[in-house]
Amino acid sequence: MDHDEKKMYNFAYTLTQTAGIKLKLERKNSTIKIKEKTSQMDIVTEQDILIEKYLACAILEKYSDHNILAEECHKDGCKNKKGYVWIIDPIDGTVNYYRFARDYAVSLALYRDGRPVFGLVYDVENDIMYSGRSKLDSAANGRKLDKLHVKKESLKKAVVSMSIRTMKELSSMGMDVFGMLSGVQAHRYLGCASLELCRVANGEYDMFISSNVYEWDIAAARILIEQCGGTIISCEKTGKAGKLFAAAFHSPKLWKEALKYLPDVWPSHLL
Ligand code: IPD
Ligand code: CA
Ligand code: CA
Repeated sequence: MDHDEKKMYNFAYTLTQTAGIKLKLERKNSTIKIKEKTSQMDIVTEQDILIEKYLACAILEKYSDHNILAEECHKDGCKNKKGYVWIIDPIDGTVNYYRFARDYAVSLALYRDGRPVFGLVYDVENDIMYSGRSKLDSAANGRKLDKLHVKKESLKKAVVSMSIRTMKELSSMGMDVFGMLSGVQAHRYLGCASLELCRVANGEYDMFISSNVYEWDIAAARILIEQCGGTIISCEKTGKAGKLFAAAFHSPKLWKEALKYLPDVWPSHLL
């Protein structure tokens, strides 16, 4: 990061924190109203829109020539544009926010020419800011996250995160995903992709797999994982306008074992 990007990082850190505090206050003081987007699992609240506008306006006021890609009102942005692109998920885990006010996050990333400069994932209720910066250690509230030591190298010892939606989709593609999950040490699922990815970065989870994420779900956590020595891969689903297959893990050996149960859609250079 150069001098200007350090300034952008400091600005983004405070902005993300403030957005989280606003969300917490809204949850306390307002009635949260929801609208279904594509299904009962895919909802939006007024607070998603409010926070996205708050973040986008603050960014564009300071950096008017930058681009925005965000879930609710800035879907047309593109990560791979030349120059700076800010990628926002104003509330990741909206169902959690609405239902029980925990395990939701504000996710904000800055990309330059398609590569991450930094990523911030704010776990609002636990008050933990996960941060990742190009060429620097990832951290949680400023405390360095350890480099991932590849210990859990077999599925038998792995903690794997995957949603029911992903299981259903992979099964419908003929994959024995239940065979895979019945052989792991534990299956966990939070319902907040950015925080599950932070759990891969901090070593709590060994692997995260999804067939149902977008760039804004993974953009900020990507650099956190990479700077910890982990791997995150994604590829666009054909005909699904921006929807991605994504996976994150620390052990290539574990990934190779998992691939026996997964569709052949992933970049193969890792093996
Ligand atoms: C969703 C959550 C969920 C994941 C979905 C995402 P949202 O984000 O991260 O865990 O399974 O794929 O769309 O809609 O709450 O921002
Ligand atoms: Ca999301
Ligand atoms: Ca969201």
